[in-house]
Amino acid sequence: MARIFSGIQPTGGVHLGNYLGALRYWAEDQRAGESYYCVVDLHALTVPRDPAELRDETRAMATLLLATGLDPEACTLFVQSHVPEHPQLAWLLECTASMGELRRMTQFKDKAVKGGEEAARVGLFTYPTLMAADILLYGTTHVPVGDDQRQHLELTRDVAERFNGRYGDVFVVPEAVIPPAGRGARIMDLQDPTAKMSKSAESDQGMIGLFDEPAVIGRKIRRAVTDADGGAGAVRFDPDAKPGVSNLLQILAGATGREPADVASDYGRYGDLKAAAAEAVTEMLRPIQARYRELRADPATVDKVLRAGAERAQPVAAATLARAKEAVGLLPPR
Ligand code: AMP
Ligand code: TRP
Repeated sequence: MARIFSGIQPTGGVHLGNYLGALRYWAEDQRAGESYYCVVDLHALTVPRDPAELRDETRAMATLLLATGLDPEACTLFVQSHVPEHPQLAWLLECTASMGELRRMTQFKDKAVKGGEEAARVGLFTYPTLMAADILLYGTTHVPVGDDQRQHLELTRDVAERFNGRYGDVFVVPEAVIPPAGRGARIMDLQDPTAKMSKSAESDQGMIGLFDEPAVIGRKIRRAVTDADGGAGAVRFDPDAKPGVSNLLQILAGATGREPADVASDYGRYGDLKAAAAEAVTEMLRPIQARYRELRADPATVDKVLRAGAERAQPVAAATLARAKEAVGLLPPR
């Protein structure tokens, strides 16, 4: 049976890229196997975070995941720091991964460059080993993520194989499940369609937040950068030649469950495409936003879900950790 695991950092800036690239698939596929979804609060500490805000956003993210349709009867939803096995296994994996392979991680390079590598937190560097621990603790076979996490998944596989080679078969080697190109794998910034939509972009005009109001969604999409060549046949799906229009097509297709190339044939003008995309995104987000507001007013229910989730996850994690510790030669307490 498939074991599914994925994680997301608790931040208020959840955007359409997160939803179309990952969260939508979590909700759709939660019954395709035994599934675990984790709010990775320890990963959030790799960059400066206000403590009160982190606490609040961790619960808010869990609330949002429930609002997108995760069903606590069907999956295990929990907070990373509630299961202390995660950082414990991460240590063993830090002693498996090499400096060289961690240094090649583009997410580290991108984020470290911002504040200067000298000042970057060590945790930002070792981030992928904690992520590998998250995944490997659950005997995970499938990891649904956006395209930007491909490299971290490759590292997880390499580390698992190396560990197994050295110490015996402890870990299941997982596979990334990335949406096909054009189906949300990489939603681009509306103002700069050559960069992925991201919460850390300079301006939020290129990013549609999951909590944006209809008027804001409409405005951001209307102002989205399209490509210079207007005229006949200008609406077509061609991410290399026409990144802006192709991104809008991908968004509209994602929101309506169609293929981008197929959607393209319905529109002759950029303006019509934009209006349709804004409408479709608004309608897609409306029920999620409503359910979020409802659940946000009832934090005790969310906390209960998270407690039950951690109680289910922890024994699974503990069993894997115990096998890993034994394999490397740690003396069990007697
Ligand atoms: P993060 O917010 O970076 O923790 O990402 C959460 C999930 O959203 C991960 O599976 C990412 O791969 C996915 N994701 C983030 N940005 C995008 C994007 N622009 N397009 C598609 N998926 C994305
Ligand atoms: N690194 C992932 C991201 O930035 C979040 C994450 C942490 C994750 N642990 C994970 C994703 C385990 C999948 C599986 O999006």
